[in-house]
Amino acid sequence: MPEEEEQDPQPAPQETPPEPAPAPQEPGSAPAGQPAPPAPAPAAPAPPAPAPAGGHEKPFAGARRSWKFVLKFLAFSLVFWGLEFAYQWYVLIPGEVGGALVRSFALAGATFFGLALCSSAVFRWKPRWVKYWYVRRSLGVMGFVFIILHFVSTQQFLFNWDLPALFWSLDPFQNPVLFGLAAMPIFFLLAITSFDWAVDKLGQRKWKAIHRLVYFGYLFSVFHFLLINPALLLNPAGYLLLAVTALAVGGDLYWFIRTVVAKKSSKLGIAVGVLVILLWLVFGYLGFVAPALQAGAAPQAPAPPEPGVDPELQEDVEAMQRFMERNELPVPNATLPGERDFQGERVAAQGQFQNLHYQTAGTASLTQANGSWYVVFGEDFATPNGPDLVVYLTPNQEPTQREDIGEGIVLGDLRALEGRQAYPIPRDVNVSLFHSVTIHCRAFNVPWSYAPLEAV
Ligand code: HEM
Repeated sequence: MPEEEEQDPQPAPQETPPEPAPAPQEPGSAPAGQPAPPAPAPAAPAPPAPAPAGGHEKPFAGARRSWKFVLKFLAFSLVFWGLEFAYQWYVLIPGEVGGALVRSFALAGATFFGLALCSSAVFRWKPRWVKYWYVRRSLGVMGFVFIILHFVSTQQFLFNWDLPALFWSLDPFQNPVLFGLAAMPIFFLLAITSFDWAVDKLGQRKWKAIHRLVYFGYLFSVFHFLLINPALLLNPAGYLLLAVTALAVGGDLYWFIRTVVAKKSSKLGIAVGVLVILLWLVFGYLGFVAPALQAGAAPQAPAPPEPGVDPELQEDVEAMQRFMERNELPVPNATLPGERDFQGERVAAQGQFQNLHYQTAGTASLTQANGSWYVVFGEDFATPNGPDLVVYLTPNQEPTQREDIGEGIVLGDLRALEGRQAYPIPRDVNVSLFHSVTIHCRAFNVPWSYAPLEAV
């Protein structure tokens, strides 16, 4: 929660002491740029040299002066991330380097952000420790570095740099990536203004106003990772993140209420605090309470099967969905050599993927190249992950029923969730008999999506 106006601890006073001033008496009473308490603890980086009198701090001057601390903190961060990565790679998703990178950067970044916020509450509780304020700043900046790497690895390993695919739904409760995206510009702004020279240039008031945005960035981040795939958090690395998050939110709320009760909050502080609390409640309701109520209401009043919908298929679709909610699915990411650069390919027929049970986008085509036939998915292809997805060439132009694949031929497991991919058609197949491409969930026998093929 937003801190009170008068008592915000300022960043790393002992790192960049521009001029001598009395030591802070209570948490956060030292304005930016003032020195540490007179007898810094041995763990704190000593301020080796004062900043140029009267002039602005140069960028990273504080970090340069306390380079030993910076090195130690970097080593700690690398070890922390390394443990997260090893746990993913060896234990949770053995051998999946991409997934392990995506998740370890995410968990390390989000845990560092949570620890940074926890430390604010700790400084208020133990005012003497405010001299370690620079630790909070380092956690925030390193957390941001990890989250940038998380973003880059999601693009590299999950989205194939298809940025529009991030916006497949504009409802953040359906597509929680949007919460992550909303947090990014806020964290970017906070990261570039988290150095002494920025505090110096902006002045305390502006700096403080900008840094209140952290509560919004954090709110978006927490809803991003709670909603995107809750099953990912049900392991010790996730429990650590959840515990740190609960402490950060609880600590901030506690101090917000205390400062409001003690009438030490500014009007802006109260307004921001109340808004943030309201947003937590509204997002919590929309993200968790409303869906739980809906799910609870469903068995009491089962919807009659829609006319034309096979009830057995409906049951299998629901079983598949329950399986997907409870289990981590391996992300298919195989490619065949040469599928990106066919020489002189000729498209004979093509069509757009249609949604059946999941939203699938892009083009499929029947293509001839090098004397062979292929089903080729275009660069625009994108589908959510599902269990045991298989590609078929099917005769019916609208293969919406599961029986339709009975007459089709299997081309292979779906090799990637996005982007161009080519599936060779066996030589003895008469392609003129096939009028659609189907993606089918083999494990639950559920049609996933199909693309009707029209001659071009
Ligand atoms: C920049 C935009 C972002 C994108 C595109 C993005 C994307 C994703 C995706 C696709 C996943 C699911 C990964 C999987 O299923 O393996 C994920 C998970 C996660 N993300 Fe993000 N994210 C973004 C920003 C953030 C931010 C700002 C945070 C937190 C500070 C964050 C923290 C997490 C966490 C903790 C997980 C769960 C990892 C796990 O439990 O294994 N992400 N993100």
